[in-house]
Amino acid sequence: MKQQMKSISLGWTGASGAPYGLTLLKCLLEADYRVFLMISSAARVVLATEQGLKLSANPAQATSQILTYLGCERGELVVLGKDQWFSPPASGSAAPKQMVVCPCSTGSLAAIASGMSNNLLERAADVILKERGQLILVPREMPFNSIHLEHMLKLTNMGTVIMPASPGFYHDPKSIQDLVNFVVARILDHLGVDHVLSQRWGYDSGIEAETDN
Ligand SMILES: Cc1cc2nc3c(=O)[nH]c(=O)nc-3n(C[C@H](O)[C@H](O)[C@H](O)COP(=O)(O)O)c2cc1C
Repeated sequence: MKQQMKSISLGWTGASGAPYGLTLLKCLLEADYRVFLMISSAARVVLATEQGLKLSANPAQATSQILTYLGCERGELVVLGKDQWFSPPASGSAAPKQMVVCPCSTGSLAAIASGMSNNLLERAADVILKERGQLILVPREMPFNSIHLEHMLKLTNMGTVIMPASPGFYHDPKSIQDLVNFVVARILDHLGVDHVLSQRWGYDSGIEAETDN
């Protein structure tokens, strides 16, 4: 492991939106991050359903499957199992200071809001919260019930950034990937990672509203 690399924890859980998680991972690796990736069982089902990507239960094999799928040779990907309690994200003494759960199921949202820490992904999020790091959750559900909303409010009040997978349409998207890029670009903005995924409002967007003046 190269010590000087920037590192980040990334969780994929069982909400719809596997392309968001894959695109975000690709961008982080291309920005030369070491990414500690935690994938829930339900996320594996969603990946297979939405992308036809059937990941091995073996973390090393899953790592090479994902890198091949993304065609990515930069950064460093470390896929972790749900019980790898001795890995860096499990302890405040070694964990990265930033974590994104993308996509984030309402189940994992609940577990994180309640501090369950029943698997490595939940524990990693709990570590970020206790260490006052940066936690970004990307939930996808509709409609939300009051349980979901209460969890999001509770976490927001603790400094977590809730970024629902809600792509805009004002940038004239031509493809699904354009919509995915819109969401991932906003996540990268919050992380402080440079990207060229989408145009910026008011600068180079070419978007001009008609006004009375
Ligand atoms: C194909 C598929 C799509 C799903 N979509 C969503 C979703 O959009 N949002 C959500 O909160 N749960 C969704 N679920 C349900 C979650 O996967 C389920 O609640 C699971 O227990 C979440 O576990 P996890 O948080 O450990 O991944 C979906 C499940 C499947 C199989």
